[in-house]
Amino acid sequence: MPAIVVLGAQWGDEGKGKATDLLGSSIDYCVRTSGGNNAGHTIVINGEKFATHLLPSGILTPGCVPVIGNGVVVDPAALFREIDAIDERGVDTSGLVISANAHVIASYHRTMDKVTERFLGKNQIGTTGRGIGPTYADKISRTGIRIADLFDESILEQKVEASLDLKNQILAKIYNRRAITVEEVLEDLLSYAERLKPMVADTSLLLNRALDENKTVLFEGAQATMLDVDHGTYPFVTSSSPVSGGVCTGAGIGPKRIDRIIGVIKAYTTRVGAGPFPTELFDEDGEKLWRIGGEVGVSTGRDRRCGWYDAVVARYSARINGLTEFFLTKLDVLDSWERIPVCVGYEIDGVRHDEMPMTQTEFHHAKPIYEYFDGWGKDISGCRSYDELPKNAQVYIKALEDMSGAPFWAVGVGPGREQTVVLRDI
Ligand code: GDP
Ligand code: IMO
Ligand code: MG
Repeated sequence: MPAIVVLGAQWGDEGKGKATDLLGSSIDYCVRTSGGNNAGHTIVINGEKFATHLLPSGILTPGCVPVIGNGVVVDPAALFREIDAIDERGVDTSGLVISANAHVIASYHRTMDKVTERFLGKNQIGTTGRGIGPTYADKISRTGIRIADLFDESILEQKVEASLDLKNQILAKIYNRRAITVEEVLEDLLSYAERLKPMVADTSLLLNRALDENKTVLFEGAQATMLDVDHGTYPFVTSSSPVSGGVCTGAGIGPKRIDRIIGVIKAYTTRVGAGPFPTELFDEDGEKLWRIGGEVGVSTGRDRRCGWYDAVVARYSARINGLTEFFLTKLDVLDSWERIPVCVGYEIDGVRHDEMPMTQTEFHHAKPIYEYFDGWGKDISGCRSYDELPKNAQVYIKALEDMSGAPFWAVGVGPGREQTVVLRDI
């Protein structure tokens, strides 16, 4: 089973880090293919908690080569901060490989992210403020800077000049901010070049060769399907393609290489930042999900909005990504509910929809249609097999599986690596 994709099936923070770590012992390469340090993945190993942002979670698995693919946007300062922090905890980071074609987040991208959000006022996206959107915008506008450019000072100077030309006009004339000088950007970016150089490679060649040799390569998704720039709740999305299709462009591999596509999905739903969310709760159930689920962002410390499981979103994710299976996480968070609602369809302007509506306007108006399941009223965090789970938890899992569009591979009953019930081997 050489190429496996793990991706988010909702709005992020589903437990992709845990799913990646769970597969870790059998993987040779762990690859990020989109996004940047807007991600925050938590891994709990023997009770010790780690958070990764730009680094692939496989960095924590001895013997696994962590790779940052060409589709990722790299903030060199954030990269080295993360490497240094994780090094200090005794993790070997020396095997990290970074694509020469990955784009660089410079200080002016972070500045643009912040000023545009402020400018949007009540219409803001609620970005992570890490410069992600402006960096992808430059990539698509062909005014971006790639990692390889950091090793050629005169090319870098030309590119920074071209990129700042228009931005400085916008910063000074629209946002009333100080213009950024080419010199200060060059000084900053060049200061990372020497340390970066030995990590940089043609990662597409590396990964294709690894797959030719039947090595196991895991593509660790960041963000999620509903945050995808094409398929998510546009414009309340990130600026990359976190769906399975994005793995091919973000790593430089062909689609026929991929064997398994695992969608990670919570037993309820959360979202950070602005945008529509049909099953969102504003009552004490929402507060309880937030509290028991510990729903606070790993990257930004923002509270996550909470709501019930949405099977329309699950089916949509199964379809858009071609999921071969789901990993259902955080089932244990629901332990204390007597009755658990699950959204099975939407009512939109008086009409029932069983699939995602065609337009965002309709999605904004979607009202969830709920089916109700009996709770199990028991702590399941110690369960390790399907048979050990209470009957009503089994019924809940089966019902979700039947309505979500792909088989369930495993169920998370706690944050720890071992707190997992595997339903079928993959
Ligand atoms: P990611 O961005 O998809 O990797 O997810 P995050 O790490 O941002 O958020 C998921 C949170 O849920 C983390 O704190 C995990 O430790 C935790 N988690 C993952 N799986 C489970 C589970 O099955 N049960 C519980 N209680 N927590 C889980
Ligand atoms: P992981 O990988 C949850 C959200 C932001 C905002 C929108 C755009 O941990 O699941 P951006 O900074 O990317 O331009 O912000 O996307 N967002 C995430 N939400 N989990 C994430 O990553 C996210 N990465 C971005 O909150 O709404
Ligand atoms: Mg996260």
